[in-house]
Amino acid sequence: MIAYTGAMEPLADDFTILAIETSCDETAAAVVRGGRAILSNVVASQMATHQRFGGVVPELASRQHIVALAPVVEEALRALPGGWDGVHAVAATYGPGLSGALLTGLNAAKAIAWQRGLPFVGVNHLEAHIYANWLAPAAGGPGGQAAARPQGEGPPVFPLVALVVSGGHTLLALLRDHGDYELLGQTRDDAVGEAFDKVARILGLGYPGGPAIQRAAQGVAPAGALPRAWLRDSYDFSFSGLKTAVLHKAQERQELAARVPQGPEPRPARGRSAEPRARAKPPAGAPQPPPLDPAFVGQMAHAFQESVVDVLVAKAADAAARHGASAILLAGGVAANLRLREELTRRAPVPVRYPPLDLCTDNAAMVAAAAHHRFAAGVQSGWSLDVNPSLRLGG
Ligand code: KG4
Ligand code: ZN
Repeated sequence: MIAYTGAMEPLADDFTILAIETSCDETAAAVVRGGRAILSNVVASQMATHQRFGGVVPELASRQHIVALAPVVEEALRALPGGWDGVHAVAATYGPGLSGALLTGLNAAKAIAWQRGLPFVGVNHLEAHIYANWLAPAAGGPGGQAAARPQGEGPPVFPLVALVVSGGHTLLALLRDHGDYELLGQTRDDAVGEAFDKVARILGLGYPGGPAIQRAAQGVAPAGALPRAWLRDSYDFSFSGLKTAVLHKAQERQELAARVPQGPEPRPARGRSAEPRARAKPPAGAPQPPPLDPAFVGQMAHAFQESVVDVLVAKAADAAARHGASAILLAGGVAANLRLREELTRRAPVPVRYPPLDLCTDNAAMVAAAAHHRFAAGVQSGWSLDVNPSLRLGG
């Protein structure tokens, strides 16, 4: 439930927000002043907990958030002179994400705000990723790497096109003003980050797949392209066909490798979608497929990354030109991809802005930045605000 406070007094320059983010597998808290200055940005990653399962286990994530939340919030507040007394408002992500994980952070934030008599607002995680582009990290300070944002000194100027690419979402949006968003397109199947993670698993590169694929693709001489799903006349995306193409090539390679020692044998029939084969564990004692050779893995990683980047860049660049955007904002975990940054910057008709690496993946500073503009517009959430695991941009 969102409530308008009515009076729209400009917020003081030192308006300071404590924000909490627990939508997936990072327990994060941050203190941000004036919507841009990061005073602290603490992220406790659960990567090690989930790594051995090859993906995030929701129940483990919720339990881990409960353990980590209090120390993470305390650490974030340590950077604030005056501690709790320096906090003017509280914010937390309320969707989209894993419901149990979201519940822990949302309830903690509501409890803090209620107990301290502070205003509270719930924040959309997708919007928060975009607002990472409003943060002004001091070089060398928390959030560092100010130089990683080549074209942006001041806050972005509307209208803007945002390309949100994360583990759970892929969308292109037109931003006319704070809170005034139009969804131009989104993925029809896998999110980009999800595709990176699945393809990394097929190639035996581990989790999380994005950075692993980027590393494997680095310096590889291209050897054949993979398909691109253009979905003509639409800003929608599709990545599952590309993932299946990689799977088929990997299976062919493994079948070939398995045949080498024993000599030729008939090729087993393959179904239309061979995906379950990649996921299912072979029965105990069954022969394991031979590991893929590093040269093939590098070529697949390279071709996959090029295919994804080509489609994302072409659609974002087209949308920016068509809608007269002043800039393209790149956001979400996959915005950390160096090839995507490079190619978008090269081909876009307008300046491209992207957050420094540590503000691309999940963090609470971006939640505070988004919350600042909600409070500035006189928006607060009621105590009855519940999590919304399938919240959409603008919802
Ligand atoms: O935004 P995020 O931290 O979490 C979600 O809200 O989903 O994004 C995580 C995703 C993962 O799928 C991860 O593989 C991907 O971001 N990612 C990358 C890179 N770094 C993280 N994908 C491609 N290249 C990277 N360098
Ligand atoms: Zn995210």
